[in-house]
Amino acid sequence: MPNRYEDALNRAAEKFRRTAQRAADQGIIPYKSEGGAWIPSPFAGNGWWTGGFWPGLMWLMYARTKDEFFLREARRTQEMLVEQFRVFRELNHDVGFMYLLSCGADYKLTGDRQARQDTLHAASLLMGRFNPAGYIRAWNNPDQAGYAIIDCMMNLSLLYWASRQTEDPRFAHVADIHAHTALREFVRPNGSVSHIVEFDPETGARVREHAGQGYALGGQWSRGQAWGLYGFTLAYRNAKKPEYLEAAEKIAGNFIAHIRPDGLTDCDFCQPDTEERIDNIAGAIAACGLMELTVITGKDDYHAAALQLVDGLLDSCCDWSDGHLGLLTRCTASYHDDGAGRHTNITYGDYFFVEALSKLNRCDPMLWL
Ligand code: GLY
Repeated sequence: MPNRYEDALNRAAEKFRRTAQRAADQGIIPYKSEGGAWIPSPFAGNGWWTGGFWPGLMWLMYARTKDEFFLREARRTQEMLVEQFRVFRELNHDVGFMYLLSCGADYKLTGDRQARQDTLHAASLLMGRFNPAGYIRAWNNPDQAGYAIIDCMMNLSLLYWASRQTEDPRFAHVADIHAHTALREFVRPNGSVSHIVEFDPETGARVREHAGQGYALGGQWSRGQAWGLYGFTLAYRNAKKPEYLEAAEKIAGNFIAHIRPDGLTDCDFCQPDTEERIDNIAGAIAACGLMELTVITGKDDYHAAALQLVDGLLDSCCDWSDGHLGLLTRCTASYHDDGAGRHTNITYGDYFFVEALSKLNRCDPMLWL
């Protein structure tokens, strides 16, 4: 008799085995599902930062089932991502999300040499965004040369990976410089993290913080908290620097203190009590980070918190019907609606939820490393 996590992962594989064919028929990289269809990214076409999560989800399903359908669907969409190298215009620091979970996963699971080259290409693009004043530039807008964001902690894994692959420490050095800037400038005394910090691109001096996708300046956008939690945990696994683990545990403590009694995650931990705004993506990411922290520290409290988050999602926010093509519900892109989705299914929520279930079933291929 499978336990509830094994049953959920098996059901997820069965569901995506049925519904992913629709994405192939539509010829798109799914961003979210609504109204019985897959919807492509709302901005920037296939250059939008989320494009790697769908192939990443397919690789997780392939690792679990060895069903070649998932391999074919992953490769169909990662070809569309590789084409973006030639467009270049929209690519930014999120090449870590985009190519580590697609081409990097392909190389990890199949040994494909071209996939390895494509992943190294992405790592070189990320290196090109490094400002020696001390940070990796997030976005391309001319007036945002000094912007760095907490989400980038997840993209650093691509750099550490590239250093291991090439036996060249340049990539890891850059990752460490950015991570130390993030430690100093993003992690607050109470264990919360800022979303956006703007630096002077000439000197590296801090200019100001921006509210970003959270409720307000000085707030705690929950997905940003989750990026910090999992990102510093991954930095520790990559570089083994104790200060990264210390930061990850501090951020984890604050996140755990804000888990709702029903196991779901508010969009911003400082949002008004009168506001019912959920972002389950944040809970799924945090569950993954907490499970990795359990392995590193041996602390059961982290595992218990991860289970509280996964149980909350299983109890009330999974749509197993084929009427909805995606799985996780009540995902929210930004606190203040930016047109990218509110209380809906979004593919990177499905990716992290399935990653969390894979960890609980001891079959996670750990695509980040
Ligand atoms: N990395 C952008 C976001 O989490 O929405």
